[in-house]
Amino acid sequence: MPLDPALAPVFPRTAVVSPQGRLVIGGCDTVALAREFGTPLYLFDETELRENCREWLHEFRSRHPETAVVYAAKAYLGRALAQLIAEEGLGLDVASGGELAIALAAGFPAERIYFHGNNKSRREIEEAVEAGLGCVVVDNLHEAAMLNEIAVAAGRRQRALLRVSPNIDPHTHRYISTGALDSKFGVAIGTGQAEEAATELLAAPGIELLGFHVHIGSQIMELEPHAEACRELVRFAAAMKARHGFEARVLSAGGGFAIQYVRDTAPPSKAQYAEAVVSAVKEGCDEHGLPAPRLTVEPGRSIAGRAGVALYGVGARKEIPGVRTYVAVDGGMADNIRPALYQARYEAVVASRMNDAAEERVTVAGKYCESGDVLIRDIDLPKLWADDILAVPGAGAYCLPMASNYNAALKPPVLFVREGKARLVRRRETYEDVLRCET
Ligand code: LLP
Repeated sequence: MPLDPALAPVFPRTAVVSPQGRLVIGGCDTVALAREFGTPLYLFDETELRENCREWLHEFRSRHPETAVVYAAKAYLGRALAQLIAEEGLGLDVASGGELAIALAAGFPAERIYFHGNNKSRREIEEAVEAGLGCVVVDNLHEAAMLNEIAVAAGRRQRALLRVSPNIDPHTHRYISTGALDSKFGVAIGTGQAEEAATELLAAPGIELLGFHVHIGSQIMELEPHAEACRELVRFAAAMKARHGFEARVLSAGGGFAIQYVRDTAPPSKAQYAEAVVSAVKEGCDEHGLPAPRLTVEPGRSIAGRAGVALYGVGARKEIPGVRTYVAVDGGMADNIRPALYQARYEAVVASRMNDAAEERVTVAGKYCESGDVLIRDIDLPKLWADDILAVPGAGAYCLPMASNYNAALKPPVLFVREGKARLVRRRETYEDVLRCET
């Protein structure tokens, strides 16, 4: 049976309800997986991941063939996903030596890797140059000097983009807004610092400047901020050509495309985002007489987010008459900090009883020692009992990569599911893992 249509867009598109009333994803019975692998458990639906990669490629390349779609690894990365991303023909944006190490361990082609970050260390830059990365996205002049020196010493010219800051408010949570003037990321266009940085990069023998990059924030529900950022990027590129004779070959519009987390708020489609970005870049280039550049986009959440579902076991109930009913699950802020950090909202379903009607309004609490450890405030669900399995969709992006060992929590295992088969790509942590780094 199909899912409730109001919830279908927040689950992987393979999700259905079995004749026994259980949630099935990628052809696998989620309750059986929860019993076999324990909870909390994170599932990734391979079909959903691949479809999202293909849809982004199609939506951009059908409008602008010279587009590289680069998956933002910070949304979630493991070896299995890196391999899948490579197979689908995307590039990879890494933001640390650790993410780079995972990518290289997966055999991800170095020339398709972009290295980001606002404070890359000397060691990280050395690792990037040594691995022969396709592109370093330079964030500031401190880093530019190190990159130049390291590349010269290695006898290389490192390809680079310069990250500029356009002063645009994307109307998203302020913790995930990055394009304002008051931001730690990139060099500001408005203050003239972006131009200064560009001229320094152009004069650096170890750096081959390809063009400019902008990323204004994440989970941006509107089209206009993306379009405005692209227009600003093109204006800046045009000014650099007019004043310094430098013609940008690559422009990167960053990521930030939103996904649907809850039933009542749908973001624009991939097609609409692609149209907004491509038309802003093309119109800007026409207006300023620039040749069409190669375009790069960096979706993270919109590839991994919908593919991931977290499964939790239900435990204690606490009814406070006339106030609230708490139902506690066996995970929480250690595996998903987003509700506590950004007031992020999620849906949930009882995976074991999908056909049961909602009976009560509850607050789904985590198990960690903090009152803020609440996954979902006020959700209508069937009456929950111990050992029910609660499934939280939209858990594929920014949950596991931001997971902690708070209360010495063991990070959950990860399964990839596809056509009725589940494969364990990361096992559950053990107490030995938690103790491993103690001397
Ligand atoms: N490119 C750059 C340079 C970025 O900094 C990011 C995300 C992306 C691309 C991908 O953005 P996406 O398409 O996933 O929105 N932890 C926060 C999100 C932080 C995003 C950081 N940068 C959250 O849980 O909402």
